[in-house]
Amino acid sequence: MLCTPPMIVLVTGCRSGFGLLIAVAAARAGHTVYAGLRDLETRGELERAASGLDVTPIQLDVLDAEQRASAIAMILEKHGRIDGLVNNAGIALGGFIEQLGDDELRRVFEVNVFAALALMQLCLPHMRAQRSGVIVNISSMAGRSAMPGLGGYAASKHALEGMSEALRHEMRPFGVRVSLVEPGPYKTDIFGRNRRVAEAAAAPGEYAAMGERMESMFAGVEMGDPQEVADLTVRILSDPKPRLRYPLGPKVRARVWMGRLLPFELQEKVIAKILGF
Ligand SMILES: NC(=O)c1ccc[n+]([C@@H]2O[C@H](COP(=O)([O-])OP(=O)(O)OC[C@H]3O[C@@H](n4cnc5c(N)ncnc54)[C@H](OP(=O)(O)O)[C@@H]3O)[C@@H](O)[C@H]2O)c1
Repeated sequence: MLCTPPMIVLVTGCRSGFGLLIAVAAARAGHTVYAGLRDLETRGELERAASGLDVTPIQLDVLDAEQRASAIAMILEKHGRIDGLVNNAGIALGGFIEQLGDDELRRVFEVNVFAALALMQLCLPHMRAQRSGVIVNISSMAGRSAMPGLGGYAASKHALEGMSEALRHEMRPFGVRVSLVEPGPYKTDIFGRNRRVAEAAAAPGEYAAMGERMESMFAGVEMGDPQEVADLTVRILSDPKPRLRYPLGPKVRARVWMGRLLPFELQEKVIAKILGF
């Protein structure tokens, strides 16, 4: 598919999952893509998937301020513009609130919130000057409602959502678009190689039974095809009037409607029933 006009796009976290697929799908749509990797040595899978496409893997640990600045500077030097930023790099953290280590939670916020903010702040002056640009932040259904056992992750995605909503208002006069993608569960490395659980959850004490119920619920959860998230993100990049929020994934429609229609106390009862709490 050829899209007009082609855009210069930076996608973060492209080793696996959504990031890799977004980079490839954006290039297939005709865009020039810079695909950030926490460790450039891990670019093998991306390179195979993007063979023959306009995708340049770049070293970009989003926690490294120098790497963030030099990635944006390199793109600007080469093209004189940056049209799209997809803040995709993210980490999760399982564990009940009482179990979350300060350092563990801070790291989640560093990656999911502060690094995304820093990258937006590097791009915004240029997008404002261009009077165009698109920022897509990969949030989560956890950015809308918080499930037990994932509260730290949900807190970070709620923060990302609040920031994106405000930024959307702020950028409106400058022609810069801001959107949030809110996936439900999709089969990526976040549930495998990159699965993270709070250290204290290893000795769950009174949380043991709740933890087991959460584990068995997750084991049986329906997972979507991550390509859907990539295709949606690419559509948002090219949409002149994108929405703020794009929830998608298995059972997500029901969750969104439940959030809209039911008072919280009723939602609480439904969730307690589903989880057996
Ligand atoms: N899969 C889902 O069900 C789901 C649902 C809702 C939202 N999300 C969100 O989707 C985004 C992508 O996750 P995914 O599901 O595709 O999982 P994934 O396969 O684990 O991908 C996460 C990517 O982020 C990268 N990353 C982590 N820390 C980084 C850092 N400091 N600098 C640069 N890159 C870093 C990882 O690189 P390394 O592997 O090299 O560390 C990896 O490429 C995340 O923001 C996640 O919160 C996922």
